[in-house]
Amino acid sequence: MKKILVTGGLGFIGSHTVVELQNEGFEVVVIDNLSNSTESVIDGIVTITGKRPLFEKMDLRDKDKVQAFFAKHSDISGVIHFAASKAVGESVENPLLYYENNLGVLVYMLQELVKKGNSNFIFSSSCTVYGQADEMPITEDAPVKAAESPYGNTKQVGEEIIRDTCNVNPHLAAIALRYFNPIGAHPSVAIGELPIGVPQNLLPYITQTGIGLREQLSVFGDDYPTPDGTCIRDYIHVVDVAKAHVAALQRLIKGTNESNYEVFNLGTGTGSSVLEVIQSFERVTGEKLNYRISPRRAGDVIQAYADTSKANKVLGWKAESTLDDAMKSAWDWERKIRKPEENTTA
Ligand code: WQD
Repeated sequence: MKKILVTGGLGFIGSHTVVELQNEGFEVVVIDNLSNSTESVIDGIVTITGKRPLFEKMDLRDKDKVQAFFAKHSDISGVIHFAASKAVGESVENPLLYYENNLGVLVYMLQELVKKGNSNFIFSSSCTVYGQADEMPITEDAPVKAAESPYGNTKQVGEEIIRDTCNVNPHLAAIALRYFNPIGAHPSVAIGELPIGVPQNLLPYITQTGIGLREQLSVFGDDYPTPDGTCIRDYIHVVDVAKAHVAALQRLIKGTNESNYEVFNLGTGTGSSVLEVIQSFERVTGEKLNYRISPRRAGDVIQAYADTSKANKVLGWKAESTLDDAMKSAWDWERKIRKPEENTTA
């Protein structure tokens, strides 16, 4: 059984990826510093798969501990690296935290993988690297634009660090996955998104408004040059995103990759406006959502949705869930964590 390290494996996308790795027969070791997750997520994973991943609580900024971990687990066949800070606004206020946690840690991981010899590395990147792309849908060849935030910059520079390292280390094979907007929860509602404090992202804010935790959703601008005036994004079910990680890892393990550094978009290929996402919530739940139109949010791009043909063709992966599927899973999850006594997913 091949052993895979998943850093940040108790986070939103990480935990869903652990489930899919276990479903494919991999042995999983999770490292997480629990800064944005809780150890109880492991129970959710076990509820779904019946398998408990090995878990080590660790801050990957501790280089000695990273080295000791790789010395102890020399039989790791691959690393999927989710562990990073990801709040755009926080990154503007505290850039050094982001450069240390997102890039310093990446360097430590790569140093260990280069020492190992044959290594497979999957990097959690983001469509943020495209900024406001000139053409839709966005292909992987679209130019990377100046980052709008230190967070976005860590994804751009992170990709460059990996590319440059792969260029001179033929035994290191890496894939960067550029996520569009992951949303939803596992259909079992045993795991899902656990935003801390007031959600920055649209989906958890919608479901928390729907459940009554938030008074009203602010729609950040309806005067954009889009059909209904609100921004357009590519919302992809988190389980589809997780499955893409397994497909990418298997490509590297089988050695079918054409070069030792490849990049893939992870989206559905369909753009949805903020108002369309609200309509999805109302369709799925049968409830009206309380929202108002508010001023634009600084840094928002007008539209971003993926050309997914490369991942479809090369990884043999395609998103299977619709926006409504993802919305239903998000709503079921919200109801479960807020009203566990009504623990139904009907
Ligand atoms: C989506 C749309 C908002 C909240 C960010 C990061 C990206 C990735 C995903 C980490 C926008 C609108 C939102 C609200 C709203 N994060 N909105 N009211 O900004 O596309 O991407 O999260 O990897 O890197 O940049 O996602 O969900 O914040 O916003 O109107 O209360 O919803 O203006 O148009 P975004 P989002």
